[in-house]
Amino acid sequence: MSEKREHWSGNWGFLMALAGSAIGLGNIWKFPYVTGKYGGGAFVLVYLCCIMVIGLPILIGELTIGRATGQNPIGAFAALCPKRSKLADFLGGLVLLSGIALITFSQIGYGVLVMILGAVILYGGWKAIGLISGVITPFLILGYYGVVGGWTLIYAVKAVTGNLAFRTAAEAQAAFLPIQEAAPGTWWYVIGGQLAFMTLCGIILWFGVKKGIERCSKVLMPSLFVLLIVLILRSISLPGASAGLKFFLSPDFSKLSAEAVLVALGQAFYTLSLGMGITIVYGSYVKKGTNLPKSVLQLIGLDTMVAMMAGLAIFPAVFAMGFEPAAGEGLVFQILPTAFNMIPGGLGAVWSTVFFIAVAIAALTSGISLMEVIVSVLIDYFGMKRSAAVLLSWISVSVLGVLCSISMSSWENIPWMEKALTSLFGAPPESLFLTLDNLTANWFLPAAGMAISIFLGWVWGVRNAMNEIRQGAGRELDTNFFILLSGMRGESGYGDSYKHIFTPASIWGFFIRFITPISVMFVFLNMTGAIKFN
Ligand code: PHE
Repeated sequence: MSEKREHWSGNWGFLMALAGSAIGLGNIWKFPYVTGKYGGGAFVLVYLCCIMVIGLPILIGELTIGRATGQNPIGAFAALCPKRSKLADFLGGLVLLSGIALITFSQIGYGVLVMILGAVILYGGWKAIGLISGVITPFLILGYYGVVGGWTLIYAVKAVTGNLAFRTAAEAQAAFLPIQEAAPGTWWYVIGGQLAFMTLCGIILWFGVKKGIERCSKVLMPSLFVLLIVLILRSISLPGASAGLKFFLSPDFSKLSAEAVLVALGQAFYTLSLGMGITIVYGSYVKKGTNLPKSVLQLIGLDTMVAMMAGLAIFPAVFAMGFEPAAGEGLVFQILPTAFNMIPGGLGAVWSTVFFIAVAIAALTSGISLMEVIVSVLIDYFGMKRSAAVLLSWISVSVLGVLCSISMSSWENIPWMEKALTSLFGAPPESLFLTLDNLTANWFLPAAGMAISIFLGWVWGVRNAMNEIRQGAGRELDTNFFILLSGMRGESGYGDSYKHIFTPASIWGFFIRFITPISVMFVFLNMTGAIKFN
């Protein structure tokens, strides 16, 4: 290691940095919509259960792996499992065999990819999980996240300069399509936005953990909060806002299908930035005395609150202005600017500006957390200086991002890649952007989630992990759950009874061994189409 590892300055800095990563586009463009679609308040309840079943156990686990080893994801797994692991060999073998099976079904491209994956796991053991989830995944995600990040910057600038004054949804669509599709005439524009986004991430990371990530999160996260409150006040005071509130929140248990539960599980996982090495790396900057479970509970509270706030800011305005709700880029880049622009009082540009600055903040702080994972591997593993590591990450991720932007227009712009993909997969996927999104969200993230909970529960072991978590966490972890909830802790005769029955520690162990991996497996099977619930 060439430089001494930095640490967060304290609980607040750690919490803000973690919130910066967790609170992203998922909170703003996905959560509000799926909530409205799948039963409002009823969905929120299910979502909270999923956060508890999947999100919380894995988040504590990843942070613990990071803090216990003080290392990047590859080094962390290597340190915790130095010997060969039979379980890893078994899993690697299984993956290798599935690759062979795919090839016999003449899925050559996928088969070869899966076989390579199996071979890497067989060769590297658990370290391979660190490599895949902690280097490859963040790299691929950042490749397309930067493109969207670029859109948010472009729109923030457009909003400030009064260029979002759309009068109809069609007008908004006409303005967005060339950007989304990176039409030849707007290339420089889209690529410029994407490069600006990556450059901002790089500049912040250049300053390091405390002076870069932590300092900017401490300013940006509270600002995001304030901006959302301003928007909520405007949005819910519009005439006709109640229809939006009704769509977003009124509980409708009939819409709670099995599919809704799976969507909630997937969202819980994504929104906490799990399975991409981020929380392992952020955990490695945590001081030993920090109370991890407490920070995690605070983070979950903040993340959920911002997701709810986004819904309160968005839907009342959308409905009051007579639009239909939607998700994703259609909502953020088309419906919302139009709706905000139509708010009476002539302040349309102001509302759009507030909104797009908030979205850009959310995207930027998530982007830096992704890039930091790659930077940390380069620093630890190759002994690079932070400045060199940032530069190299910036260049490589930007190259991928530029390819991504170009591919949105048409594969004909990068014929060699189209040719390569056609020979491997039969036909090239729609775009590199969508391929990376699909590959990471549907395959890599859930697979990493399963692998990490199995590693924690069965390889490193719950006892070892818990001993690490206990540092700084106080005795609550080992107090009977009901005694804790009933407020009887400390009562003579009950209070601190140190019994390992139904304590937060034993519940965590049980979840991470059984409930969490099985739940993620269902998400995985559903997303990959192996099973379908309806
Ligand atoms: N947690 C982020 C969100 O909710 C997702 C994310 C974080 C994606 C970091 C990529 C990188 O939007």
